[in-house]
Amino acid sequence: NLAGLPTLRGQAPVVVGHRGSSGTRPEHTLESYRVAIEGGADFIEPDLVVTKDGVLIARHEPVIAVVDAAGKVTEATVDVASHPEFASRLTTKKLDGVDVRGYFAEDFTLAELKTMRAVERLPALRGRAYDSQFEVPTLAEVIALVKDVEARTGRKVGLYPETKHPTYMAQVAGRDVSQLLVDTLKKEGFTDPARVFIQSFETANLRDLKANIMPKAGVNLPLVQLVSSPDEAPYDWTAKGDARKYDALTTDAALRDIASYASGVGPYKRWIVDEKAQTTDFVTRAHAAGLLVHTWTMRNEPAYLLPAYKNDPEAEMRQFLRAGVDGLFTDFPATGAKVAAEY
Ligand code: G3P
Ligand code: CA
Repeated sequence: NLAGLPTLRGQAPVVVGHRGSSGTRPEHTLESYRVAIEGGADFIEPDLVVTKDGVLIARHEPVIAVVDAAGKVTEATVDVASHPEFASRLTTKKLDGVDVRGYFAEDFTLAELKTMRAVERLPALRGRAYDSQFEVPTLAEVIALVKDVEARTGRKVGLYPETKHPTYMAQVAGRDVSQLLVDTLKKEGFTDPARVFIQSFETANLRDLKANIMPKAGVNLPLVQLVSSPDEAPYDWTAKGDARKYDALTTDAALRDIASYASGVGPYKRWIVDEKAQTTDFVTRAHAAGLLVHTWTMRNEPAYLLPAYKNDPEAEMRQFLRAGVDGLFTDFPATGAKVAAEY
C-alpha cells in the first residue's frame, strides 16, 4: 500500500499515457490514446509538431522517417517509404548540429500526412502487429477524443501536450508551435487548468508562454519544465542549446527560478533514482521550491528498467512513488494506473 506518500500537496499521483499507450500501440495515434484512456491514464501526452500548412499534429519529432545513404528507411513513425509520390520530399536538415536525411513533417500538408499511416517506432522490441492501420492525428482530433470520452462516460481525462523543438519550428518552418497550441486549445474550448499541463524542454519557450502567449490569449495553464539527462545540453536544434547542461537546471536556485514560470518539473528518471538504484534528494528539493514532479519514462520492457528492477516494472514504479513523485509518464499506462491505485 502506497497511501500517505509525500506528493507535493498530498494529492494522488497522476499517470500520463506517454505518447498514448505507446508500449502496446504505434505511438501518437488515436488508437494509442484510446487504449491509454481505457487502461486508466489520467492524462494523455501528445508531442506536437507542425505541418506545412500550419496544423499541429501528434508526432515525437519533425523528422518522421530517417533514411540512410543507401536510401533505406532506418527509423520511421509513418509509412512514408511506401509512398513513392513523395520521394522528392526527401531532404537533409541539420538537427542539433548533425545532418539528418529523411522526411520532415513541416514539408507535408495535413492532407498529405493524412494519406500516410503510423508504423511502430521500435519494431525490434514491440513488433509490427499494428503497422499501417492508424492515421496521424491532429491535436484537435486528440482533444475531440478526450471530449468524446467525457460525453460518453463522464470521465475527465487530461491533456499533457509537449511543444517539440519550438526554436527549430520558428526558424526552419516559420511556425510558432506554442502560439498554435494555445490557439487550438482555445478554439476547442479545452482550457481548464485542472486538465492541461504544457511541457517543453526549451526554457525560453515556457517563459514566452507564461509572460506573453497565454496572457494575450486570456488563458493560464500550468507549465512543466522538462529536464533531460545530465550529459545532454538543452534542446535547441538551431543553436545547439546554450551550452548549459541540464544539471544547471537542478540546483536549488534553478528550481526556484523554474517555479517563477512553471508549476512543475519533468525530470528524466535518473535524477530521482540514480545508477546505484538509490533515491536522490531531487523530489524533496523540487517540492521545497513548490514544484510538482512528473518523471519519465516508465516502461515495462526489461531493457528500459533500472538495473535493480529488470523484471518488475511495477516495483520500479513503486520506488518512484515512494520518492514522492506527483506523476509518472509511462508507455504502459495500464500498469501505471494499477500501481497508482495503491496510493
Ligand atoms: O515529455 C516527457 C518525455 O516525453 C520527454 O521525452 O523524448 O519522450 O518526449 P520524450
Ligand atoms: Ca514528450
